[in-house]
Amino acid sequence: MARTLQEIETMRGTDREVRLVGPVELTVVLPTFNERDNVEPLIERLEEVLAGIAWEAIFVDDDSRDGTAEHVRGIGRRKPNIRCLQRLGRRGLSTACIEGILASSAPFLAVMDADLQHDETLLPRMLAALKSEELDIVIGSRYAAGGGLGDWDRSRARISKFATRLSRLVVKVDLSDPMSGFFVIRRPAFEAAVRDLSGQGFKILIDLFASAPRPLAFKELPYQFRQRQHGESKLDTLVAWEYLQLLLDKLVGHIVPVRFALFAMIGGLGLVVHLAVLGLVLNLAGVGFTVAQSVATMTAMTSNFLLNNWFTYRDRRLHGWRLLGGLLSFYVVCSIGAVGNVGIAAYVFYADQSWWLAGVAGAIVGSVWNYATSAVFTWRAR
Ligand code: GDD
Ligand code: MN
Repeated sequence: MARTLQEIETMRGTDREVRLVGPVELTVVLPTFNERDNVEPLIERLEEVLAGIAWEAIFVDDDSRDGTAEHVRGIGRRKPNIRCLQRLGRRGLSTACIEGILASSAPFLAVMDADLQHDETLLPRMLAALKSEELDIVIGSRYAAGGGLGDWDRSRARISKFATRLSRLVVKVDLSDPMSGFFVIRRPAFEAAVRDLSGQGFKILIDLFASAPRPLAFKELPYQFRQRQHGESKLDTLVAWEYLQLLLDKLVGHIVPVRFALFAMIGGLGLVVHLAVLGLVLNLAGVGFTVAQSVATMTAMTSNFLLNNWFTYRDRRLHGWRLLGGLLSFYVVCSIGAVGNVGIAAYVFYADQSWWLAGVAGAIVGSVWNYATSAVFTWRAR
């Protein structure tokens, strides 16, 4: 195989020092969050399996507290093909991978976890397949024949299977492991999709297949998912929630912003809360309708605020005193929205005499107002 990179290797005692003198062919993008102890063993393995290939590794670190970025930079000072892209104030596996790829110039781009659970020995074969066949992407699959989930417990395996089934809503090709975070892609295929990527959560592969302007030509190679050596998985309920958001964004994002869809869904839930509290207070507390309606309205507004703060605006979540300030501004926004709602509904009703059309028109105007203004005043980006 033609060597496109000449490594001038200098052995200083036990340490290996490298100087790059040629174009990089393969960039391995490694998203990291608290993976300090995995960095060195991973680099050693990459050096072993990628010998003879012009490669570099870009660790995309989201400001890990365990010093992962500093550790990578320390190695990078001796080995310039080891690079660190540190992000401050931002989190997310998918966006980390996207930004790592955008920071590289190589024609072939690998995405792999940095905790040694993905089998790096597959990399040369993935690259060779991409170079010799008409393919856009080669994927490491745990579900292809010969692949496996390693020591995953039954519940995690069941969740993964369910999530895989859900992905068929937005991925129209027959991928055996759409949840895989392990693949090598050609730069043109990535660049054709990059501006339409949602970048939500963990599922960059699904995002790529659902955003590509044409079906990607792909191949799957089996591998065994390994046990984690150091640190712990970052997969939590928030990641599951982000996956649902990714699916929602791919399904309706081109019609309405996903955040508005979530806001509207929570608004709908608010209606249920409102009616439930109204019924309860009217029948149990024995107060008049006006009091009961006011209690129901305040409760529904408060639960809408808390749910939106937790889900819709989790990336701008308010805490402490700012939570209280946010709640008050949300009350003001929604009260004006309610006036607008009633005003528009009355106008449509007297113009058209259709009570349901009036009601729907009022509700739409009210929720669009609530969404637009609370995005500016309550959850403004900082
Ligand atoms: N920069 C950055 N920011 N990196 C992150 C973040 C983040 O917010 N969250 C996780 N990572 C890094 C981890 O440090 C690790 O290197 C890699 O992403 C995978 O994270 P894990 O927490 O180890 O995920 P997992 O093992 O539970 O699941 C992985 O494997 C599955 C099977 O392929 C992920 O890749 C899943 O997407 C994949 O489905
Ligand atoms: Mn992992």
